[in-house]
Amino acid sequence: MTDRAGGQRSEREQWASQTGFVLATIGSAVGLGNIWRFAYVAGENGGAVFLLVYLVFVAAIGVPLVIAELTLGRRSGADAVSAFEAGEPGSLWRFAGWLPVAGCVYILSYYTVIAGWAVKYFLGAATGALWEEAEAGYGAFFEGFIAEPFEPIAWQAVMLVIAVAVVSAGVAKGIERLNLWLMPLLALIVVALAAFAVTLPGSGAGLAFLFAPDVSQFGNPRLYVAALGQAFFSIGVGMAIFITYGGYMTRRQPIPASALIIVAGDTLFAIVAGIAIFPTVFALGGDPAAGPRLAFITLPQIFIEMPGGRLIGPAFFFLLSAAALTSIVSLMEVPVATLIGRLGLGRRPATVLIGGVSLAVGVPSALSYGVLADVTLLGLPVLDAVDFLGSNVLLPVAGLLVALAMGWRFAGRTVIAEAGLAGALGHVWLWLIKIVVPAAIVLIVVRSLTAS
Ligand code: TRP
Repeated sequence: MTDRAGGQRSEREQWASQTGFVLATIGSAVGLGNIWRFAYVAGENGGAVFLLVYLVFVAAIGVPLVIAELTLGRRSGADAVSAFEAGEPGSLWRFAGWLPVAGCVYILSYYTVIAGWAVKYFLGAATGALWEEAEAGYGAFFEGFIAEPFEPIAWQAVMLVIAVAVVSAGVAKGIERLNLWLMPLLALIVVALAAFAVTLPGSGAGLAFLFAPDVSQFGNPRLYVAALGQAFFSIGVGMAIFITYGGYMTRRQPIPASALIIVAGDTLFAIVAGIAIFPTVFALGGDPAAGPRLAFITLPQIFIEMPGGRLIGPAFFFLLSAAALTSIVSLMEVPVATLIGRLGLGRRPATVLIGGVSLAVGVPSALSYGVLADVTLLGLPVLDAVDFLGSNVLLPVAGLLVALAMGWRFAGRTVIAEAGLAGALGHVWLWLIKIVVPAAIVLIVVRSLTAS
């Protein structure tokens, strides 16, 4: 650690409590990925088989990487770029931190577009307008809305303004506080939605889809890429979130236990959201493989028809919007902390700058089903292509860098000691980070790029 980083440590912000830190990291992990993305990716990839492969990746790849990121962050007590630099000042590794910093802006650019859709649906459901406006069905309603030239950008901007307000207020006073009250509320809502869904007649088919594996599907190679991409995206690993959040930890906060709680919380949330979504979809005859439109077309169609749907609808879209907000806040904090730490910017100007850049970079994604409907990348609409490359290539590559850096370069006893992994566990972790995680990432990503 350099003197500069050492000097910064004392002035730097810190979490006010371990509970606040854990809820903030779970808030980062739990987002559109657990509800919108998990449901449609699991739906497209066979349900229960997907869930099984997903669980294996989460345990074997997700947990070790979260430990690695938190350790790197707490050890340097600095932003992502400085953390890599402190790990090995003289080598090329010192530039590695810029990849996730740029990556966060990349993900923000389209993530905030979808979050904007969720806000629109929430306000529509809460005021009742959503139920009246869609006379021609939610397919036409949604297609019409995302084809508008301005409206999607306006909702994206609404989401960004709220996030900028939170992040400007600081780590403990903004981010931690938001998550302290919002995350318990979201947990309550998702459990209530799931409890209601399983009481619907015909819900058993949905539960079977999610929990009874059809083993013939294990041979499908797309399943493995999809599960890896989903694990990275849902936990939010690879984009230096845990490096940055780890930089605000105190020495007394335990790293391995925190990592386990974060990953378990994220996974549990996705499963409970699945229990809320699939039984509902099956009970009312929807298609679980409807793709990204599942949350925005299939579900509202169901809400309008089912008993209690006019209460469930607003609750669901509040959940979706608020979960997205707590993730957006974390994605902003990485570049914001870097601008503060590297360029000496104040927190407020740094946050406004990142919010503005994310909005601007997101314009093509926001317009991808309207003005840019004829433009395709990799044969996909712009937003879908940006998500595909982000989740299935950028995140795994960034995760690979973290694993290689921590396993092979900054490694050794000091890293294991910092992580607080005693004895055999430390060896298992180091072995996973050095060999298993990199090998799995390379195999799966290469396979996905050559198979498609
Ligand atoms: N994990 C969040 C979700 O499931 C999104 C997210 C937050 C994320 N931080 C991230 C994704 C970092 C990738 C990288 O919606």
